Amino acid sequence: MYKQLQQRNMASPPVNVSTLRQMKADAEPIACLTAYDASFAQLVDMAGTDLVLVGDSLGMVIQGHDTTVPVTVDDVVYHTRIVARGLRRGFLVADLPFMSYATPEQALDNAVRLMQEGGAMMVKLEGGRNQTAVVECLARHDIPVCAHLGLKPQSVHKIGGFKVQGRERGAADKMTDDALALQNAGADLVLLECVPNEVGKTITAALEVPVIGIGAGPFVDGQILVLYDILGITQGRTPRFVQNFMHGRDSQLAAIEAYVTAVKDRSYPAKEHCFS
Ligand code: KIV
Repeated sequence: MYKQLQQRNMASPPVNVSTLRQMKADAEPIACLTAYDASFAQLVDMAGTDLVLVGDSLGMVIQGHDTTVPVTVDDVVYHTRIVARGLRRGFLVADLPFMSYATPEQALDNAVRLMQEGGAMMVKLEGGRNQTAVVECLARHDIPVCAHLGLKPQSVHKIGGFKVQGRERGAADKMTDDALALQNAGADLVLLECVPNEVGKTITAALEVPVIGIGAGPFVDGQILVLYDILGITQGRTPRFVQNFMHGRDSQLAAIEAYVTAVKDRSYPAKEHCFS
């Protein structure tokens, strides 16, 4: 009974929502990565990653699609379940894929699947204040939620490409208002993708909940990158914010540890990884 818990290292207890909030309060950077299978999840966990996301980026890096749009709830449930087996300490977040949260009822059904069948501890969804009813419904049922703002990859066909968001004053102000509305609706975490440093800074200062950035500059509470990008597996052009941590290292574990250290000592992201 409780085998999973007995195997945990209590000198380094599992991360939970309170841990993440405390890290924000203590100004301790939160190191996050994606993972899609048990073996990599184990490495990511051993390296000290605080939060592990089963992102719908799996559609691009695992399945070979050009976007995240084709990913299904079944896909995310499967990958979450196998990632969960590799984790001892990391906080496990899973993405609600495209069109799996169009109504509060649908979001609830699918979030329950990610948690019960996959073992997720939090679900992530994309959207601004248009998603407050969905976030309120999940929060009312004690389902932890991460709200993804800025560049929303599930909207790529509507936006017309993977572009930096919030460069104009009006758009930046709207994003800050959206972040506050989502926090007020019950979101426990906000993820900001591809925004100028100043937008990351403003939203992080405005919110009580932690803000995790990907291409959102150095002033957010934590950083996340796609695992295959930091290991140099991704071929072709990578986004400006990506750093290949395999350079000069001879193992995946050493590279992941170097990423975690760089997030913690704030040497990542450097100027060349940021947008203005
Ligand atoms: O799907 C994903 O991996 C993500 C990251 C880009 C943060 O949402």
